[in-house]
Amino acid sequence: MTTKDPYQYFTEANSADVVCARVAEAGNPRLAEVMGSVIRHLHAVVKEVEPTYEEWEQAIGFLTATGKICDDKRQEWILLSDVLGVSMLVDAINTRRPAGATENTVLGPFHVDGVPARALGDSISEDGLGEPLLVSGRILDLDGNAIAGAVIDTWQASHDGFYDNQQPDVQPEHNLRGIFRSDEDGTFHYRAVMPCSYGIPDDGPVGQMLHGLNRGNIRPAHLHFIISAPGYETVTTHIFVDGDPHLANDAVFGVKASLIGEFEKRDDPKQAAAAHMENPFWAVTYDFVLTSQPE
Ligand code: BEZ
Ligand code: FE
Repeated sequence: MTTKDPYQYFTEANSADVVCARVAEAGNPRLAEVMGSVIRHLHAVVKEVEPTYEEWEQAIGFLTATGKICDDKRQEWILLSDVLGVSMLVDAINTRRPAGATENTVLGPFHVDGVPARALGDSISEDGLGEPLLVSGRILDLDGNAIAGAVIDTWQASHDGFYDNQQPDVQPEHNLRGIFRSDEDGTFHYRAVMPCSYGIPDDGPVGQMLHGLNRGNIRPAHLHFIISAPGYETVTTHIFVDGDPHLANDAVFGVKASLIGEFEKRDDPKQAAAAHMENPFWAVTYDFVLTSQPE
């Protein structure tokens, strides 16, 4: 090869090959594989859409704004990954489970550590606002055996669609959050409030993109859970409210059919009194099925 050999220099036709050749020798083979794939796909996108300079500047401006709005409370990159379906795809690839096991869904940005442990039957509502909801179910293994002592970490938005950490001046800390442990027979129950659909943050570049694409920012009503037990794979998931009009257009693609729960309105003064709830009340029962950790 001479210094005038045209094949070693960058052209429109060979662009991805020339750039990939530079990363192929990276000391870290996984990094070379990942960056090679990113480069090939990125070049394919540019060749397909043929951006003008102005469009390319707009793209750089969007990425710059996405980075600039991030701080220790706001992560616009994760939000971007969520609305593009990438968070759910990474989650699906990393949580392939046998039929019958509870499916994972997106964690979201509102989980916090350090939430108080509560006793079965307690309420997670610190402000008493919203329609009462009784949540109950079992933690089981794939053979239907009860898992005692499983940790049930739950959180949800308020009756009007905000998490406590979005409204530190309005809601008490740890409102609508709780950590429970399943009973000897694998059962759990606690008092909550009926969740409603809510909008994910749309006051930044991701929101502008959604509006530009005529896409909504609404998530259908749901309860969040992280269920863990020694020897079992941890499940991060939701229970969605059947009948919510936004189930089919969740802004972050988190809905799975198996995660839709039936929330029924009960008019049962005896059960309400036994559960220390107002009558009538909403109730949902859902069993979480865990898989054993690989040996
Ligand atoms: C959530 O359900 O809390 C959530 C998930 C993804 C993005 C924003 C919010
Ligand atoms: Fe949520």
